[in-house]
Amino acid sequence: MSDNNHLCLLGLIFLSSLLTGVSGVDDAHVFISSGEDVRLPCNNALQDCTSTDWLYNNRHSNSTVELIGLGIKKRDTERHERLSLGSNCSLNIRNISTEDSGLYRCQQYVKYRQQGPDAGVYLHVLHVSSSHTEISSGLSVTLFCQLYSYPRVSCDDWIRSERIDLFWVNQTGVKSDSRYQISSSSGHCIISLNKTLLNEDDNREWRCEVTQRDHVKTSVTYTVKSSAEADSTTAVNKHVIKVILIIVEFAVFAAPTVILLQIICARKAERKDSQQPAEIDINTIIE
Ligand SMILES: *[C@@H]1O[C@H](CO)[C@@H](O)[C@H](O)[C@H]1NC(C)=O
Ligand SMILES: *[C@@H]1O[C@H](CO)[C@@H](O)[C@H](O)[C@H]1NC(C)=O
Ligand SMILES: *[C@@H]1O[C@H](CO)[C@@H](O)[C@H](O)[C@H]1NC(C)=O
Ligand SMILES: *[C@@H]1O[C@H](CO)[C@@H](O)[C@H](O)[C@H]1NC(C)=O
Ligand SMILES: *[C@@H]1O[C@H](CO)[C@@H](O)[C@H](O)[C@H]1NC(C)=O
Repeated sequence: MSDNNHLCLLGLIFLSSLLTGVSGVDDAHVFISSGEDVRLPCNNALQDCTSTDWLYNNRHSNSTVELIGLGIKKRDTERHERLSLGSNCSLNIRNISTEDSGLYRCQQYVKYRQQGPDAGVYLHVLHVSSSHTEISSGLSVTLFCQLYSYPRVSCDDWIRSERIDLFWVNQTGVKSDSRYQISSSSGHCIISLNKTLLNEDDNREWRCEVTQRDHVKTSVTYTVKSSAEADSTTAVNKHVIKVILIIVEFAVFAAPTVILLQIICARKAERKDSQQPAEIDINTIIE
């Protein structure tokens, strides 16, 4: 009776793992945009998460970091505050950054023996930034869209075999040509696609999309604001500057002229004073 119950339970677990679409063998690829939260599945799907380890391979080094050990979060990892273990042993990461891209592996143990193969999840992070936050006349703005990855094979092979592509898409859904740059070194792989915006693009929304085999995996929307307000304040400033310039001109040229004239007049007056006192009044009036 109790044996039958156990079999029943095992069957249910097996069925439920089938229903959740868990393959258990193939590595998963998860695409996410920076700033979002992600839930990485542990496909071994043992119900007891106290036997679960989560390991991480960094883009920058070969060393493996243990994030979760036997169901307990390691406190000494840099990112521990953003991590948690889900009820189904998934690894939850809040506020994803490009530094989080890489390979995550879930291992589960029963009596010190690993159950099944590692459940590997490759996390790919899409990030958009810009050269300026505002667009103004005569100044172009460049949008940078980058996908940070850590493929098992070389960067080029991965892009080709998985048909990874980046696009900038405008508000009407029109894609601009995708001529990205690939930079890769010791394990990391960054695909970049720039987009230069001109004046007429102000306040328009642009979306960077990453596709795998023509399916959109994730996207980031970016709007560059027009700096019309900034322009009007400069216009006001220009008026103020003109007024200041007039005052300065007056101070530099007019004031000394007035002083000079006063000195000349005073001297003339002195000379005339000593010669013909009667003419003073006439001279002064003429001048
Ligand atoms: C784990 O549970 C979360 C909800 O808590 C669900 O979104 C996710 O799909 C589950 N993952 C697996 C592998 O069952
Ligand atoms: C990673 O390991 C390979 C060979 O094991 C070595 O050549 C390479 O320098 C290592 N890279 C880093 C960043 O440690
Ligand atoms: C998310 O992370 C970024 C840095 O990567 C930080 O500037 C931002 O404040 C974080 N947001 C939240 C809600 O924690
Ligand atoms: C999107 O791009 C297409 C092709 O360049 C253009 O015809 C269309 O006007 C653009 N839409 C917007 C809203 O910018
Ligand atoms: C994209 O912008 C970066 C930074 O300005 C630059 O180094 C790179 O060459 C640009 N790429 C292309 C394809 O224009």
